[in-house]
Amino acid sequence: MTADLLTPSASADPYALFATLRAEDPVHWSDAHRAWLLTRYDDVSAAFQNKAFSNDRVRPVLARRQASGEPTAADRVLGLLSGWMVVNDPPVHTRLRKLAAGAFKGQRIAAMGEQISAIVDEHLDAFLAGSGPQDLVSEVAYPLPATVIATMLGAPAGDRDRFRDWSDELALVAFGTGGAARAERHERALRGLQEMDAYFRELVARRRAEPGEDMLSALMAREDEDRLTDDELVAMCALLLFAGHETTTNSIANATLALLRHPEQLARLRADPELLAPAVEELLRFDGPIKVLNRWVVADTVLGGRTIRAGQRVHLVLASANRDPAKFADPDVLDLARSPNPHIAFGKGIHACIGAQLARMETRVAVGRIVERLPGLSLEQEPVWKDALASRSMETLVVRHS
Ligand code: HEM
Repeated sequence: MTADLLTPSASADPYALFATLRAEDPVHWSDAHRAWLLTRYDDVSAAFQNKAFSNDRVRPVLARRQASGEPTAADRVLGLLSGWMVVNDPPVHTRLRKLAAGAFKGQRIAAMGEQISAIVDEHLDAFLAGSGPQDLVSEVAYPLPATVIATMLGAPAGDRDRFRDWSDELALVAFGTGGAARAERHERALRGLQEMDAYFRELVARRRAEPGEDMLSALMAREDEDRLTDDELVAMCALLLFAGHETTTNSIANATLALLRHPEQLARLRADPELLAPAVEELLRFDGPIKVLNRWVVADTVLGGRTIRAGQRVHLVLASANRDPAKFADPDVLDLARSPNPHIAFGKGIHACIGAQLARMETRVAVGRIVERLPGLSLEQEPVWKDALASRSMETLVVRHS
């Protein structure tokens, strides 16, 4: 057997395939992906701590490209991406993570609930004003996170739409390969990202001249030799946008779908709003936004009797780990009050999601407001899932409110 996570049926529902892999071949070589798939909770958890599995995966690509010819526009953007903490190992990662963590701490995320509620309500007002079938992804789940990140970075309100386009373009460049149509979109995305680069550079200059309460000002507040350069600040803005956008959109959309498919759990949440925090954890476990994380192997490693060679790739299948019966009782049952719930939807170890507190806050507010304000919500048609490897992501979630 060679597992392919990108067939239409696996994209629509990968969980049966994950169950087979966990039971029969938990350290699986997939010819389709030319990568190892780790599907058990304990193996995925251990992999996060294993130094043989590296996150440093953009710099080698860039070095190869630069060695083979003239630098292109793509190289400039890849250069920006290569500075992201999420594609670096210590010690580069350690320094960037520490600086970002300091800036996140100053953001008083717990106090952002009201601001986030106001943004959600604005979109829900428009949604409620419409009638008939409407797409909850484009109307509610998609616009929220980019607006929140733009606000956090101190960007003027009028510029927020551009953040959404850049986020899509970043996703295309960070993940997208192959196909002529894709190559053309890739070129367009690169042009968009050059615009983003110029925009963030200007924002950095403005904040240097006039610091505010925003996160970008906090990121540049240090005066010691550890401080971020302008290039690093631009890269950090792009990373926060990229890492926090699609993930949170999908978190809200997948959570809403799971609730619509489990009306008894939806009724339970409606009857007991106190359940919201554990409910969001369970919804992240049950159908979280990240399916697969990637690692490069830098030293031969034996796992489950298989030899994983340096130079190969490993896919850590988070969505499978979170359904492992060895870790979770009745893993395919959605139980909003599940406790304990040690899911790893936010990863684990040194790269564990630095925006988790913000992501939880956004998902709680959005799901809470959807449940409260849309009592007659119903699923209008079966969703179409994107054939994406890394993310668990719907094209649209067409619903109707009554
Ligand atoms: C529900 C939404 C989210 C999920 C499920 C999620 C999940 C994750 C996961 C699994 C990782 C680990 C990546 C790895 O090990 O390679 C990660 C890293 C990261 N996340 Fe999130 N994330 C979410 C939202 C956010 C938000 C809102 C932000 C910021 C605004 C953010 C910023 C980051 C950053 C900067 C990293 C890299 C951390 C590092 O390399 O040390 N994420 N996220």
